[in-house]
Amino acid sequence: MIAKTTTTIHLAHALTHARAGTDALFGLVRPEAFYERPVPERHRIIFYLGHLEAFDWNLIREAAGVPSFQPEFDQLFAFGIDPEPGQLPQDKRLDWPERAEVQRYNLRVRQAIDDLSNQVSEQMLSVALEHRLMHAETFAYLLHALSIDQKHIPSVAPLPPSPSLIHVMMEIPGGTVTLGQPRAHLDGQHQFGWDNEFESHEVSVAAFAMSKYKVTNGEYLKFVRAGAKPPHFWRWQEGQWYWRGMWGEMPLPLDWPVYVTHEEACVFAAWTGKRLPTEAEFHRAAYGTVRGEEERSYPWGDDQPDSWRGNFGGNRWDPVPVTATPLGDSAFGISQLVGNGWEWTSTVFQPFPGFQPLSFYPGYSARFFDGEHYVLKGASSRTDARLLRRSFRNWFRPDYPYVYAGFRCVEV
Ligand SMILES: [Fe+2]
Repeated sequence: MIAKTTTTIHLAHALTHARAGTDALFGLVRPEAFYERPVPERHRIIFYLGHLEAFDWNLIREAAGVPSFQPEFDQLFAFGIDPEPGQLPQDKRLDWPERAEVQRYNLRVRQAIDDLSNQVSEQMLSVALEHRLMHAETFAYLLHALSIDQKHIPSVAPLPPSPSLIHVMMEIPGGTVTLGQPRAHLDGQHQFGWDNEFESHEVSVAAFAMSKYKVTNGEYLKFVRAGAKPPHFWRWQEGQWYWRGMWGEMPLPLDWPVYVTHEEACVFAAWTGKRLPTEAEFHRAAYGTVRGEEERSYPWGDDQPDSWRGNFGGNRWDPVPVTATPLGDSAFGISQLVGNGWEWTSTVFQPFPGFQPLSFYPGYSARFFDGEHYVLKGASSRTDARLLRRSFRNWFRPDYPYVYAGFRCVEV
């Protein structure tokens, strides 16, 4: 039995809220589309319907020593995939159970988990919650790739006007940055973090200059006109470029961030005589201060995230102009380091010194320390505010084009 603390009660409420959020996402998929595979490198949509519940259940059931009631579903829906190039999944539609069966399993799992809530640790509840929140984002990538007639279209608020765009490089003096978070906080308070966020350590960063804004579709268009391949989110039709939005196509918004792969970002940066920032340089630009005071929690300071500070938290589906959220600028005047699209860094995803895998989820990060994944920082429009903590790290393969990820360039 684990005593219910304010934190566990808060986490249990947050999990209920997150369940409602993912239920709403699945509600946007038309019934016949549940067996589609909108991204060839990922499972069919039906997998995700069962996965969110099976993941929580497998963790909590094993920790509590409770028997399974449907072990074949626990196993079928246990883990997602991230295949190596050329190894796409080959399963058939009929390999998967009917949607109603999965929904029955889900209901039973939720009830069983809630009945065991006294036996679930804070750490395990946080893992269940954040796992679901991260899937809410990556599920949006799948939904984005699904054709428009396979989803229900919600009403979407129009964009307010944004300040005009002047590209400029901002000078950032050298300094020391803190990567990761400490396992033992000095005040005794414990903040949740995934295994790859520990241990906290300092890195020195030399002076550099970084673009105030993310690279836009307009800037990237010059590169495409010079012969580069167009990004996945663009489509050429009848003499015009269109942006493939979540709910339909629109003429390419030139002041939105371009979403590209790591490979495309690197080639663009080299084309302009610049390069991508390292993870440490990103930290310096985002969280550093002009006079060397303690690093900030967020680029704008220590105030909690809200929609004026950036495009995150699921308020919007698509990006906003790169100039739209000046209240989120960092101490060095850099815009949108958090929100409106993840940012690729040149840093290969590796463990920090002192890394220890979670005992009950050893493969969370360790499976990806293969030199084939790069660190992304920041957040997209679909990233939950809880995941905006400074130490949070995201990672993808360098050729994966479905992420809401852009970049900015730096030069020394
Ligand atoms: Fe998962």
